[in-house]
Amino acid sequence: GFELGKLLAKTGMVTLDPGFVNTAACSSEITYIDGDAGILRYRGYPIEQLAERSTFIEVSYLLIYGELPTQAQLADFTKKIQRHTLLHEDMKRFFDGFPRDAHPMPVLSSAVSALSTFYPETLKPVTDDLTEIATIRLLAKLPTIAAYAYKKSVGQPFLYPDNSLGLVENFLRMTFGFPAEPYDVDPDLARALDLLFILHADHEQNCSTSTVRLVGSSEANLFASISAGINALFGPLHGGANSAVLEMLEGIRDSGGDVDAFVKKVKNKEDGVKLMGFGHRVYKNYDPRAAIIKKTADEILGKLGGDDSLLDIAKRLEEHALADDYFVSRKLYPNVDFYTGLIYRAMGFPTKFFTVLFALGRLPGWIAHWREMTHDPATKIGRPRQVYIGPKERDYVPMDGR
Ligand code: ACO
Repeated sequence: GFELGKLLAKTGMVTLDPGFVNTAACSSEITYIDGDAGILRYRGYPIEQLAERSTFIEVSYLLIYGELPTQAQLADFTKKIQRHTLLHEDMKRFFDGFPRDAHPMPVLSSAVSALSTFYPETLKPVTDDLTEIATIRLLAKLPTIAAYAYKKSVGQPFLYPDNSLGLVENFLRMTFGFPAEPYDVDPDLARALDLLFILHADHEQNCSTSTVRLVGSSEANLFASISAGINALFGPLHGGANSAVLEMLEGIRDSGGDVDAFVKKVKNKEDGVKLMGFGHRVYKNYDPRAAIIKKTADEILGKLGGDDSLLDIAKRLEEHALADDYFVSRKLYPNVDFYTGLIYRAMGFPTKFFTVLFALGRLPGWIAHWREMTHDPATKIGRPRQVYIGPKERDYVPMDGR
């Protein structure tokens, strides 16, 4: 592939491929997807096995370092992360500058970008040691930043991390707990969130991961690259879809629950209405992550007391779509985020926080790709070509002649 690419470059030929539908920008050993067969594997391990038997912290290690950790490696990795969960006190004041109802995604990306001002050594040329400490800091601090973005939005005091707790438990406590009050983490809730994080942890060259790689290819530091990835994730066609699904389900419920009428609107492409949470660039079959989530959605919603009317609408939408030629002929199936919003809501998160949860889950994947890219001798600065279709050369026209 690379040799052919180099040869084509010499001929001056340019391929036009909007959205990179057919163009690979790198080779990667991290995640394998077969979109026609609905297969997803991290480092060779099927997502179904990881979902059932692994944990988010173990999956993070696997994605970043390439192998499942031994017990000693996992203990060391966990301890290192626990040691770095605190934010610099000055960083806490950073949150005061945002308006009370600030959307948490730009708060998250701004705070991550600001981390490089607190750790200025990361602005020096990349070394393995600096990459390692930046990796640990990000994994440790993103949950703290996310919890503070939430606390800010609800006007509640920040909690320091409790480093006797695991990563997910600590995040839940900092989000839903209060200072000086005991907070017992519900193990079912923690396990469900851990599972959702595993399912979001990597998805090869999606929009946000490609953004992380593109920004990193200029040798921008890891914090700057991840901050850019968070912004890419914010869009409703990507990570923002999980919030958009819930808004769509509520909209259908509030206008009488008529699923057929909504699907008709989608099929007629009225006002650009889409069935959010459906369709995928790579999966032309059922998204294996959605299959796992659907299986657990009933169980988790039963336990957490989710809104059955919205789950009912979601199920009816899916049933309708899977039997409708519009969706069948275009191979549109539910993607990972069709059911996640319902679960996040049952857990107590507000709709605009859902995409932050996606970012927490995707972080190890972004880091793994950034590290793979910086070690790959084939890496060059990302610089797509274009096909120019603007005006031919013309002479400048003075103001009074326009
Ligand atoms: N609802 C209705 N029609 C759709 C949908 C949808 N959700 N998705 C695709 N289509 C239609 C398109 O209109 C197009 O129809 P046409 O041939 O008549 O023009 C056809 O299916 C092909 O779709 P494309 O837009 O070419 O597919 P693409 O690969 O560019 O887009 C995407 C993929 C962005 C995910 C798209 O399916 C979409 O917008 N889905 C809704 C948003 C969503 O759920 N995003 C989350 C993605 S997964 C993730 O990031 C976790």
